[in-house]
Amino acid sequence: MEEIKEMIATCIYNTLNNEEIKLEDIKSKIEVPKDKQNGDFAYPCFNLAKVLKKSPINIANDIKDKIKLDEKIEKVEVVNGFLNFYLNDSNVVNKVLKNILVKKEEYGKTDIGKGINIIVEYSSPNIAKPFHLGHFRNTVIGKALYDLYKVQGYNVTSINHLGDWGRQFGLLIEGYRRFKDEYDINNNALEVLSDIYTRINKLAKEDESIMDIARNNFKKLEQGDKELLKMWQYFRDVSLKEYDRIYKILDCKFDSYNGEAFYNDKMQEVIDILNEKGVLKDSQGAKVVEIGNNMPPCIVLKSNGSTIYATRDLAAILYRARTYDFTKCIYVTATEQILHFKQIFEVAKYLVDEKYQKGLVHVAYGMIRLKTGKMSTRDGNVIYINDLINEAIEKSKNIILSKNPNSENVDKLSKQIGVGALIFNYLKSGENKDIIFDLDETLRFDGETGPYIQYTYVRTKSLLEKAKFNIENIDVNDLKLDMLTQVQEVQLIKELEKFTNVIKKASDEYKPSILARYLIDIATLFSKFYNECSVINLESDELKKARCTLVYATSIVIKNGLKILGIECPDKM
Ligand code: ARG
Repeated sequence: MEEIKEMIATCIYNTLNNEEIKLEDIKSKIEVPKDKQNGDFAYPCFNLAKVLKKSPINIANDIKDKIKLDEKIEKVEVVNGFLNFYLNDSNVVNKVLKNILVKKEEYGKTDIGKGINIIVEYSSPNIAKPFHLGHFRNTVIGKALYDLYKVQGYNVTSINHLGDWGRQFGLLIEGYRRFKDEYDINNNALEVLSDIYTRINKLAKEDESIMDIARNNFKKLEQGDKELLKMWQYFRDVSLKEYDRIYKILDCKFDSYNGEAFYNDKMQEVIDILNEKGVLKDSQGAKVVEIGNNMPPCIVLKSNGSTIYATRDLAAILYRARTYDFTKCIYVTATEQILHFKQIFEVAKYLVDEKYQKGLVHVAYGMIRLKTGKMSTRDGNVIYINDLINEAIEKSKNIILSKNPNSENVDKLSKQIGVGALIFNYLKSGENKDIIFDLDETLRFDGETGPYIQYTYVRTKSLLEKAKFNIENIDVNDLKLDMLTQVQEVQLIKELEKFTNVIKKASDEYKPSILARYLIDIATLFSKFYNECSVINLESDELKKARCTLVYATSIVIKNGLKILGIECPDKM
């Protein structure tokens, strides 16, 4: 892409011969038109009007008359002051398809991130509380970001910054002591613990002495009381065991589960540094750092002297800079925490080198609403993620069986489809957008859904099978790919070519949705191609082979793309 822009810019530049106009400026203005009708690349001549003192249309016509085109360009046209460049299709067709054929599973991978350390912190649920839809969205976005970086050769570390510390554990310990005998904690520990917490919290509101016990418990925890730590560890272990079930289903692994508790003994240093730099100010008994920009100050110590969420995050920044020497440290959380991250990123400038501070990135995702209203633990409208996954799988099973009662491997298939549908649903919409969640919509086999993309993949497979096309028996040099000249063929191929760039863009902008939407485009273009161009019943064996190659290349891009998003490809549906 960059090479072609450079080449086009050079062609334009050579016709101008004007010292005031720089090659780089021309290159930076070259765009890719949304509509293919307007060419593969376009240059708006408006930028030159001032310097050349001519109308953009005249400039465009002059350039068109004088320009010497590179052989990769088929033609150039002038439309409303734009120069539209059309690439020589057979060149692209050959290059792209051969590249995919040779690289297969590796197509899309690069090593541009070699030697660069990236942290993706994601999922980060609060232990002893249910894992809800928001955490699910967080987890699929984080996992996709992780894989987007991974396929570009970055050295990526995944961190699950568990919410496993804070005064609430003092309260939970008291609740557990009182009520544990009423429950079977081995059966759904998270529900049990959150129920106990809700009960004791209610009691504490009526009875101040319970709050005192809780405060005291947490103080002891902070000081390392063995017995209480053991209980806390137990809550953490049973919670993690349940999260692990979800992580297995989503196939995510974390390099570190160092959550908030890990920083218990690492916060004093933060306070010392801030003190030394003289930025820690008293404010109504609390210690705060002022950050300006119309933002409220960042509280580091509360008036009773205890640390808070933000203090632990500051300690984490210091620790991560030292331990991982990161170029970027990415945090995935809900939009509700935007202010929190703005604040701690500001304060970070007193703690770490500028290069680390500049590498802190917050990726915020919008809320998920159920059709019936906002989802939260408070109003009781909680969806337990295990239930949701099971329901998605069960519904997929019914859909599969209704389409084909003799379907084999139904269990595996319904899991691939059900889970894939959920993941895709949470990835396809813009990260910062709120989502209204509707399971049935998510599971549809048509429309912008995971099953639709999976189904497209299955269609490519069955087509190739019917055509008895086996890539292992194909000699790339025998293929007559120049025969692929239909609009639908060329459009699809040009889209396949973008894959590597799409991966880069999706990670540069921290938006897995860019890749998800790209796969929807591929599936749509494949459908158009398949409707117009027959693949099986063809007189010419050469054309058949060429088209099969295109079908195969499409299957590769869908498979590689879905894999990055954490979605499996079924062989049959
Ligand atoms: N545990 C928090 C929550 O569930 C998210 C933690 C985000 N990460 C961080 N470093 N603060 O809302």
